Amino acid sequence: MSVTVREVATPEPGRGEVRVRVHGSSVNKGDRLVMMGTPYVMRLALGLRAPKHFGLGQDVAGVVSAVGDGVTRWQVGEAVFGELTLGAAWAEEVVAQADQLARAPKNVPLAEAGSLPVAALTAWQAVVEEGRVEAGDRIVVNGGSGSVGSYVVQLAKARGAHVTAVVRAHHADRAQALGADAIVDAELEDFSATDARYDVCIDVAGSVPMSRGLRAVKQKGTYVVVGGPTDDPWLRPLLRPLGWMLRGAFSSRRVAVFVARPTPERFAELAAWVEAGRITPLFDSRCTLDELPQALAELESGRRRGKVLVEVHHRV
Ligand SMILES: NC(=O)c1ccc[n+]([C@@H]2O[C@H](COP(=O)([O-])OP(=O)(O)OC[C@H]3O[C@@H](n4cnc5c(N)ncnc54)[C@H](OP(=O)(O)O)[C@@H]3O)[C@@H](O)[C@H]2O)c1
Repeated sequence: MSVTVREVATPEPGRGEVRVRVHGSSVNKGDRLVMMGTPYVMRLALGLRAPKHFGLGQDVAGVVSAVGDGVTRWQVGEAVFGELTLGAAWAEEVVAQADQLARAPKNVPLAEAGSLPVAALTAWQAVVEEGRVEAGDRIVVNGGSGSVGSYVVQLAKARGAHVTAVVRAHHADRAQALGADAIVDAELEDFSATDARYDVCIDVAGSVPMSRGLRAVKQKGTYVVVGGPTDDPWLRPLLRPLGWMLRGAFSSRRVAVFVARPTPERFAELAAWVEAGRITPLFDSRCTLDELPQALAELESGRRRGKVLVEVHHRV
């Protein structure tokens, strides 16, 4: 699978839309799955032989450069960020629904706000809405190191929880720097097989066997299912959440399975948390639009790891 960058006409916003001059975006797991057309069943929506939709990239941070009819919410020149559900944010200019966007946080470079939308919003829902994490809770984050997991650790700490991060050894320093109180080496210890019991388990990596996961959660505790086995192109990524829902129906523990729902209200809340210094945009490397195909190829081959921030430099 290869991605090419090419010149297209500047898009014009229609009614209820704005055009955004993109400063930053980032590469999420979901973008890579859309690019690969997996799980294969998703090709029924994405296109059977070739992608139906031109463009990739969901995260966007930039400046409003044109406003369509009926838009009163934004003016040209305002800095915004958000998530494009039909992603095409890896571009110089994109058109977005005016009500998909929120004001960008003022205290971070605008391009860097492009690493927030999908990952931080998913983490927000996992911690605040689904996990209902409160001060003093003991929580465990399985996979507290990647795009979503790093925000989960930051947000849970900001809520006042005691956070155990389950990560591979090469991510231990990062999890500690994000504020994790305890680190479990995922390759040396199975957190779900110990005597530790948590108020909330947030399973981002999706690697815990369903037969064991709930044991790590206290009676009346919550198990939040965020991620699944993304390396399986067939049905397992879709069947696993269903399996969790079924387990939850017969358990005294609450099982929360969710798909992140981007709303401007949630993004506004995130921006406020960034401005209050409670969370920081995170990424491991940067690339430009021209370098993006190479960066994507390196992510697929494993030569590059972690979150990639896409910085868009404008020629004029
Ligand atoms: N529910 C939703 O709406 C929603 C929204 C967004 C994403 N997701 C899902 O959330 C998951 C994570 O997405 P992401 O963008 O954060 O991916 P990511 O950036 O690739 O992060 C995954 C992280 O999990 C770690 N990991 C993998 N296996 C592990 C294990 N057995 N034990 C501990 N850590 C492990 C990886 O570490 P290494 O680098 O060592 O491999 C990596 O740091 C994906 O399944 C994605 O589809 C769900």
